[in-house]
Amino acid sequence: ATTLGAAAAEKGRYFGTAVAAYKLSDSVYSGILNREFNSVTPENEMKWDATEPTQGTFTFTSADTIVNRAVSIGAKVRGHALAWHSQQPSWAQNLSGTALRNAMVNHVTQVTTHYRGKIDSWDVVNEAFADGSTGARRTSNLQSTGNDWIEVAFRTARAADPAAKLCYNDYNTDGQNAKSNAVYAMVSDFKARGVPIDCVGFQSHFNAASPLPSDYQANLQRFADLGVDVQITELDIEGSGTAQANSFAAATNACLAVTRCNGITVWGIRDTDSWRASGTPLLFDGNGNPKAAYTAVLNALGGT
Ligand code: G3I
Repeated sequence: ATTLGAAAAEKGRYFGTAVAAYKLSDSVYSGILNREFNSVTPENEMKWDATEPTQGTFTFTSADTIVNRAVSIGAKVRGHALAWHSQQPSWAQNLSGTALRNAMVNHVTQVTTHYRGKIDSWDVVNEAFADGSTGARRTSNLQSTGNDWIEVAFRTARAADPAAKLCYNDYNTDGQNAKSNAVYAMVSDFKARGVPIDCVGFQSHFNAASPLPSDYQANLQRFADLGVDVQITELDIEGSGTAQANSFAAATNACLAVTRCNGITVWGIRDTDSWRASGTPLLFDGNGNPKAAYTAVLNALGGT
């Protein structure tokens, strides 16, 4: 295979990227997307502020543009993200208690219903745990509606789109630490109680100094052993040259070594598309040329 998507497919996996709808008219960007990737994640277009800017009024135009592109190139779609403390519309930020809980449930229902049958995996809940050593839930307006808000979101998504895989997605959970232990305990509890959860996303935003945790693969494996798929959902690694290429290869190999790691998504196409204000954390340079990191990933996937 000569592309990331085709090589990953030969390994029974997908290789995806975050996509911004407004960039699809850029021919260099679109050309790389159409050629290399067989999964897409809307970078911002499916978030609460984008899809329900006014309570009860839904706008899917930008997200639909990405989903339509995915269909036309035969790519899967990772939906991102239904319930999250960040990027809420201002009206939701101003709600609390039952009103916020009901608004969240309605939001999950409406968005998953609109995309029913078209989404491979949904990030149902994003970033609900706190950083640091406490293993606690993150303080947020959603958390203040009651500790069961996460399972309610998952049950609501399952009812509306039974075929989509439902994921919990977070960062700084890539290695074994207090935060990932807390997520692990939640997933274990959900499986024991029959709360519908099918996958856990590991965002994998890494910097040059500490590219990936030494127990990255072991951490993916322990979650897989709970009976869920694991996915690398927002991979980017600061750095350049051989060091960066080796880190990207290591992340790819970690996924390949875990049977239930069924896909990798990088968080953007070219370095200039990255959410990071500066730096070069992606597989293509600003001109759209493949970097050493690209070749390392392709080779790790068995492609050339
Ligand atoms: O759309 C407006 C535009 O109208 C306005 O002129 C401009 C001025 O700043 O802002 C634009 O919105 C920005 C949006 O990206 C679209 O470009 C927001 O300010 C900016 O905050 C937003 O950043 C996104 C960020 O999530 C917000 O939390 C990044 O693109 C996106 O890559 C990033 O992605 C997150 C994942 O969803 C969750 N995991 C972490 C990851 C990286 O932060």
